[in-house]
Amino acid sequence: MEYPPNYLVMLPGPTNVSHRVLQAMSAPVIGHRSEDFWPLNKRIQEKTKKVFQTENDVVVLTASGTGGVEASVLNLIRKGDKVIIPVNGEFSSRLADLIDTIGGQTIRVKAPYGEIPSFEKIEEAFENNKGVKALYVVYNETSTGTRITWLDKVSDLTSKHDAFFVVDAVSNLGGDELPVDKWNVDICVTASQKALAAPAGLAPISVSARAKKFMIDNPPPTLYFNLPRYFKYYSDKTETPFTPALPLYFAFDDALDRILEEGIDNRIKRHITCAEAFYDSLSSMGFTPFVKPDVRSRTIIAINYKDNVEDKKFRTLLANNFKVLVAGGFGDLKGKLFRIGSMGEVSNYHVMRTLSAIVSTLSIMGINTNTDALSVAEEKLKR
Ligand SMILES: Cc1ncc(COP(=O)(O)O)c(C=O)c1O
Repeated sequence: MEYPPNYLVMLPGPTNVSHRVLQAMSAPVIGHRSEDFWPLNKRIQEKTKKVFQTENDVVVLTASGTGGVEASVLNLIRKGDKVIIPVNGEFSSRLADLIDTIGGQTIRVKAPYGEIPSFEKIEEAFENNKGVKALYVVYNETSTGTRITWLDKVSDLTSKHDAFFVVDAVSNLGGDELPVDKWNVDICVTASQKALAAPAGLAPISVSARAKKFMIDNPPPTLYFNLPRYFKYYSDKTETPFTPALPLYFAFDDALDRILEEGIDNRIKRHITCAEAFYDSLSSMGFTPFVKPDVRSRTIIAINYKDNVEDKKFRTLLANNFKVLVAGGFGDLKGKLFRIGSMGEVSNYHVMRTLSAIVSTLSIMGINTNTDALSVAEEKLKR
């Protein structure tokens, strides 16, 4: 079999996976109903809790992020439940549609793409709608590169209104602040292939005691995503109800070690520094970031194309000539911007190689670029 090139994967997911983590996937096959699996499963549970900064129960689903998001809805929302949700991009819009599809009633607090709704608008939505069951928030809107900045204030509001607080942190947990217990997040969902720097296919979720009680008292209408079933299998036997993707479990075990070896705070600082280097350097090349500084993502760098840079040609040249992968825009933003995933393993090397490849690609396209832009990034990364 011929493998594809060894790309530098600067996509908004999947992202680069270290060799050490990839190698872990070649561990021998074990039985998941045997004592060989129990310590692996237990280690993953304990380390995932540390990364989520929580004492809550954790479930690691064999699914992509969408599976985790769907589980958060199926296990909590019932017909007629009111749900407040900020909508400012494709992923928040998709989540709101899912909630409506299963019979919930979303109260959508909208903001134009590239912006976020203010916290006051969320407070207003709670004041204007009595009996809201939950607030669902897509923390980091991957389609636009925005980041909701008021999650630390939510707990008082949801406690006051006796509502659950659910966070889709698929594209930033592991690279951005999200202390689940401190912020009183009832359900937090992420995915393995983004800032956690593991291969795609796992969706870790944390569930608070009160959300867990609701799920057990009100069994969800799903088999595969039935979280109470996962809790029971774990507490009875340290197992999962269905066959886990064992190679991914081995890889995730190792990826979690890497995160904890680095330390969450150091990891967040690294993500902030790399994101700033990208924003500043690309700005000095004459591009404009799609999002204003105060609500810019620390993991997804969304950049408007300059008038004369054609999306497909730019990304194809970057991939073919320099083996660097970046993503285009999503939905209405297709052709208007490109997105760099600056997360997981991202380091000075990834930033500088991506930026140099962009400068060279622009030059091939006949566009002169300020090469001082590379020094701008170097300066930022020195700090
Ligand atoms: C914020 C957000 N939510 C959900 C998803 C869906 O995740 P997946 O593609 O792993 O199913 C994504 C994927 O990019 C995402 O960015």
